[in-house]
Amino acid sequence: MYSNRKSFIIKLLVVACIVYLCIHVFTNNAGRVIRELQESGRNLAALDNANLEQSAAAALVNENEIKEPMPIAEPTKEPEPPVQKPVPTPEPTVLEKVQRLTQCLDKPLVPKTQQRGDYWVLYNYIIAEKTFRCHESITYTTHADYSFMDNLVPLLERWKGPVSIAMHAPGTDFANTLESIAYLRDCTSSLVREYTTFHIYFSTKHVPKEVPKPSSLFTELYNCSLSPPFLNVSTENMYKAQKKLLYPVNVGRNVARETAQTHFILPSDIELYPSPNIIEKFLTMIAENKGPLLSKNPKVFPLHIFEVSANQQVPDNKTMLKEMLVNGTALPFHKKLCPGCHSVPKAKEWQNARETKGFHVFHVGKRNGRFIHWEPIFIGTHADPLYDERLSWEGKSDKMTQGYALCVMDYDFLILDNAFLVHKPGIKVYKKDPRRSMLAAKTNQLIRKIIFPELKVLYGVKKGCAV
Ligand SMILES: *[C@@H]1O[C@H](CO)[C@@H](O)[C@H](O)[C@H]1NC(C)=O
Ligand SMILES: *[C@@H]1O[C@H](CO)[C@@H](O)[C@H](O)[C@H]1NC(C)=O
Ligand SMILES: *[C@@H]1O[C@H](CO)[C@@H](O)[C@H](O)[C@H]1NC(C)=O
Ligand SMILES: *[C@@H]1O[C@H](CO)[C@@H](O)[C@H](O)[C@H]1NC(C)=O
Repeated sequence: MYSNRKSFIIKLLVVACIVYLCIHVFTNNAGRVIRELQESGRNLAALDNANLEQSAAAALVNENEIKEPMPIAEPTKEPEPPVQKPVPTPEPTVLEKVQRLTQCLDKPLVPKTQQRGDYWVLYNYIIAEKTFRCHESITYTTHADYSFMDNLVPLLERWKGPVSIAMHAPGTDFANTLESIAYLRDCTSSLVREYTTFHIYFSTKHVPKEVPKPSSLFTELYNCSLSPPFLNVSTENMYKAQKKLLYPVNVGRNVARETAQTHFILPSDIELYPSPNIIEKFLTMIAENKGPLLSKNPKVFPLHIFEVSANQQVPDNKTMLKEMLVNGTALPFHKKLCPGCHSVPKAKEWQNARETKGFHVFHVGKRNGRFIHWEPIFIGTHADPLYDERLSWEGKSDKMTQGYALCVMDYDFLILDNAFLVHKPGIKVYKKDPRRSMLAAKTNQLIRKIIFPELKVLYGVKKGCAV
């Protein structure tokens, strides 16, 4: 009796186990099928007609599988033949249109150590987790030393796309640079790991004591209770200052630009935060391919730049920016420092125009007349001229030679209506800097006597163009 009951309980348990297992396996399968269905839905837009029909048929079959609740004992039913509905040819997606219009080529992200003039460059030293095909996004390309790294997270939160950054890290600045990157990757927003690719460069005369291979970097997590290595850096303690080195801004700009994976790039300064959703809206405008976009001239897309007071928030959209311009908490960039450098054609009209949906070309400008010395920051492509690597940040005029080339090549400057950049909060005031003034005078000589004659040979001359 007792043993009979025991064996009955054991049998019951076995049956229960089998039923449990069956249900478990089945629900897992159903989950997978649902995931596949969702995925095939997502991919629909990208599929061609034939594929579409196939996956529609597959979806119907899968649906039948899910609707069958208990397949354990019953014989499996024949799935009903899929209903053949005529499927309209899908409209190409924005990204497909961008791909077709740009005919761009994809670029892998591969680390390499290479010399570039007087510098060693560790290209793609630390690679972003997300990689992009050339038509899929816009890369924000920029340069910095580690004391500027507090800007990276606010920048990424507004950009939410690929960032390529070249960091100047001579001598002992190298170790601090690596620490700063480790802190940003381990202790701040996940956007840093996802989107940011770091390159490092230094003069051949100021090679750090130790340079780890990319594969042996960051084997341990950073101790996030330590304070960020890039906060409150006193510049005079940096290797660069102690050795009185200049900041080779254009080496950095070019390294960051050349390694960008996408066709469209926004070469900028790390303290300039973009207005949100630029990537999506810009690519939608490119895909529409209307109006001034059809002109035969080469083109770039300059952004208006503003600065806001130190205690203010960076505006989230043009509507908010306009209110801040009215109440005086925002100003056009460098209005007090160098009004000619950044004033944009039709600026008053732009500031008065209301925010609209999406992006459009507000005005097509040229770098001539009142704007002959304009140093615009713009969305462009790899076809645009690079920056002259003989010029330093301290010597100023570091973008003027590119501006001259754009003018001679008759570039159109397609100014966007709802996109803008805002400098990290704090309005710049003029500070006397005798060393910088001396270097600026030297740079002007270099441009006038050596670089400008070269540019005239290489790009030609055109009335109304100047460096
Ligand atoms: C991390 O840094 C804090 C503050 O200096 C220290 O107290 C702590 O012991 C460190 N943790 C580890 C695991 O090293
Ligand atoms: C940086 O300096 C500011 C002002 O001097 C101070 O309030 C802040 O606590 C410092 N931050 C760190 C992390 O040392
Ligand atoms: C602009 O941004 C502000 C602040 O985030 C928000 O309240 C407002 O709705 C936005 N306006 C538009 C037109 O998007
Ligand atoms: C100016 O306008 C902005 C945006 O509407 C607002 O956040 C800010 O408080 C205003 N400041 C002053 C001083 O009125």
